[in-house]
Amino acid sequence: MKSRIFAWLLALILLSACALALPGESGRVPLGGEPEKGKGPAAGKEMKEYRIITATDLHYISPVLTDQGEYFTNLVTYADGKAMPCIEEIAEAFIDRVISEAPDLLILSGDLTFNGAVRSHTDMAAKLARIEKAEIPVLVIPGNHDIGRKSAAMFRGNTYTRVPSPDAELFRRIYRDFGPDEAESRDPLSGSYTWRAGEDLLILMLDTNSGAENALPEASFPWLEEVLSGAGRKGDRVIAVSHQNLYIHNKAYFRGVVIDNASRAAALYEKYGVLLNLSGHMHMQHLEEDCGVPDMATSSLTVYPHHYGLITVDEEGLTYGTRDLDVSAWAREKGSEDPRLLDFENWSRTFFEETMERQARARADQLEGFSEAEKKTMTEAMVRITSAYFRGEPLDFDAVGEGMDLWNRVPGTGYGAYVESIRRDLEKDHRHLEVRTRRD
Ligand SMILES: [Fe+2]
Repeated sequence: MKSRIFAWLLALILLSACALALPGESGRVPLGGEPEKGKGPAAGKEMKEYRIITATDLHYISPVLTDQGEYFTNLVTYADGKAMPCIEEIAEAFIDRVISEAPDLLILSGDLTFNGAVRSHTDMAAKLARIEKAEIPVLVIPGNHDIGRKSAAMFRGNTYTRVPSPDAELFRRIYRDFGPDEAESRDPLSGSYTWRAGEDLLILMLDTNSGAENALPEASFPWLEEVLSGAGRKGDRVIAVSHQNLYIHNKAYFRGVVIDNASRAAALYEKYGVLLNLSGHMHMQHLEEDCGVPDMATSSLTVYPHHYGLITVDEEGLTYGTRDLDVSAWAREKGSEDPRLLDFENWSRTFFEETMERQARARADQLEGFSEAEKKTMTEAMVRITSAYFRGEPLDFDAVGEGMDLWNRVPGTGYGAYVESIRRDLEKDHRHLEVRTRRD
């Protein structure tokens, strides 16, 4: 039953992982607790402070590849709520935001592009070059939408034509200045690499999309253990990054979401005291912290409320908190007269909620024995639950109780089971994390 529910509602999420196919294409350390092996700074070593920005699942498309016409508009209107009509402005606002925040590092954890077109990648690389020109290093890894995509296309009017998508080697060449060419160590079998942020901080970029599908190549594990053990010997703190998730964030929904051989990587991360894994892919803001190394999945930068993560690392440990990209402020600064941009928070929230509403309403309309008013209540409840789930915010279940009771009356669908499966998630705030490492 549960799987049927997720086949529907969490298809919204799955869409973000596999949607937009064209026709014809198929140990958090407890606060105040004892630090674990390798997690604390080496005794007597002075720790530098770091500020890192992370974002994921931008799904950028070059303006050359879309006229925002009928075909493209239909595609994104009935998809997963990404604010694609304003993708160029979101990308530009983010680049400008990063430059003005001036962090020590920007990490992008995959799905850089909408459908993996070479042109979208080269345009994205040009934007990232603006950040590096401001002397902010940028690190990228590919997501499942970035390499070898048959759905890479150019959209004109009510049709599309296919365009090239890079192989793993071309991807690395396009983004060579954003990690690969500056790596301290590179895995020869995937695009994985390590990058030294400073004397005491190492970033591990794990590529689970170019050497194998949704996995780190099995033969890459000796490399992974070597870099982690080396970091342990030096007393480095390590932050790991992947596109797909390190742990199961929802037991009813994980195939193709969690890295296939994640448990092997997670065991090494725990063994060598990796501080945190940063992931994405689900487009949901979600923290899984009960499995060992916390896995913080940042929601898509292109989906309301346009989260990016701000991480600080200092001698006390590490903090992560989301920030909402303020596109309206950027638009005003640029002198834009586009009403969508000037009231972007409202426009984007409506765009997302209407996408969810269309899908919830379509499901409610298939049901018999419910009045129009009841279907409306059911639809509204599902939109509120799904919206909170994506944003990683707690939900007041009392506010949606009537709608959920109605869903529970639908025979044999298990909507109640669905709500129960995410109830625990919706009770907590997934937008913040603190990891203490100080050895007192
Ligand atoms: Fe993805």
